[in-house]
Amino acid sequence: MTRREKNHWRDLAVAGAMPRFREPLHVGLPNLPDRGNFHSRIDAALDRRRLTNDGPLVRELETSLARHLRVRHCVVVANGTLALSLALRAAAVRGEVILPSFTFIATAHAVEWQNMTPVFCDVDPATHNIDPARIEERITDRTSAILGVHVWGRPCAVDAIETIAKKRGLVVLYDAAHAFSCSTNGTMIGNFGAMEAFSFHATKFFHTLEGGAVTTNDNALAATVRKMRDFGYDENDDVVTLGTNAKLNEIGAGMGLALLDDLDRILDVNRANYRAYERELAGISGVRLITHNDTERSNYQYIVLEVDGSDAALDRDELLAVLKAENVLARRYFDPPCHECEPYRSRKEMARGRLEHTDRLSRRLLCLPTGERVDDDTIRAIGGIVRTSMQHAGAIRKALAR
Ligand SMILES: Cc1ncc(COP(=O)(O)O)c(C=O)c1O
Repeated sequence: MTRREKNHWRDLAVAGAMPRFREPLHVGLPNLPDRGNFHSRIDAALDRRRLTNDGPLVRELETSLARHLRVRHCVVVANGTLALSLALRAAAVRGEVILPSFTFIATAHAVEWQNMTPVFCDVDPATHNIDPARIEERITDRTSAILGVHVWGRPCAVDAIETIAKKRGLVVLYDAAHAFSCSTNGTMIGNFGAMEAFSFHATKFFHTLEGGAVTTNDNALAATVRKMRDFGYDENDDVVTLGTNAKLNEIGAGMGLALLDDLDRILDVNRANYRAYERELAGISGVRLITHNDTERSNYQYIVLEVDGSDAALDRDELLAVLKAENVLARRYFDPPCHECEPYRSRKEMARGRLEHTDRLSRRLLCLPTGERVDDDTIRAIGGIVRTSMQHAGAIRKALAR
């Protein structure tokens, strides 16, 4: 889009209401801890010359995370995709795994990578999570597991999923990549199913640069994951099983430990930003901010807007284009959904239209910037752009089409 085009809608009827940010505003900028805290942990690791292989920072991090999540075992690993892969393998899952398509592609790829077959299930349009009412129709005699995803940190319907799994003899696992520090009915995410897999990627609420973890209350599963992440070595230095290299290094663990000290402050920022967006976006027709259960712990890491896309208002992609022109780099989520990506889309059983809510949501959702670089004034300005865009949808649509 040229500068002239960008300015075009400002000339229409909206002069002054569409502030352009001088610097691009990104979604998913990393949360950072106190630098002194981080540096002193890294200096200690360098002084020890202990940079990896189950070092003291990794061990301290595992203890702190298990305490925070109130779970018996937390095995930290190199990334969330490996956390999923190890959990699937450790649980001896075979054949078909039922999971939502409305998730990041890593959830499906981890299943496929382990030579299992992902079977996509639609989501509940109210929660964006796998719909328990649709799970049973996907179960066959080859199904061995249900893999739920706590999308946006909003917990899956864990009780309903547990009931189905018990009745049909299935393993339950969760992808908790979005849900660090979240709870449901007073229980922290990390305690559900046989195991849960976290991502500690730099874009997540809590991170270790790259990283992840498998959490479980099952001693045997924890021991198996621990061996698998380290080439199959046991505590006596014997190789007793097939394993891979999924170890987290000490620098990542140092980042995690420093961030844990600052978690309350980061949560306050995220919550305040979410409240500010709630206020600024209230009453704008055609858009809706997703809600959280404020009686539970939530990390408010994702500011998710559902855009209706009626004739009278801009649709999601039009709104994204306007925001981009004003230097707000909002992002589509999850578009395309997994079943529209290779290798899944080419498969016959992936007939379109079967995942009605997934298809609909993937065309309607976008995430707005939040985190420490975003303040009240920024959110007021973004709210102003969204409001003006919707109020002058007809004229702006014409300007976009030029
Ligand atoms: C829902 C979900 N699952 C899995 C992953 C994979 O995690 P990682 O990038 O740490 O491998 C991510 C994020 O990247 C994610 O958002």
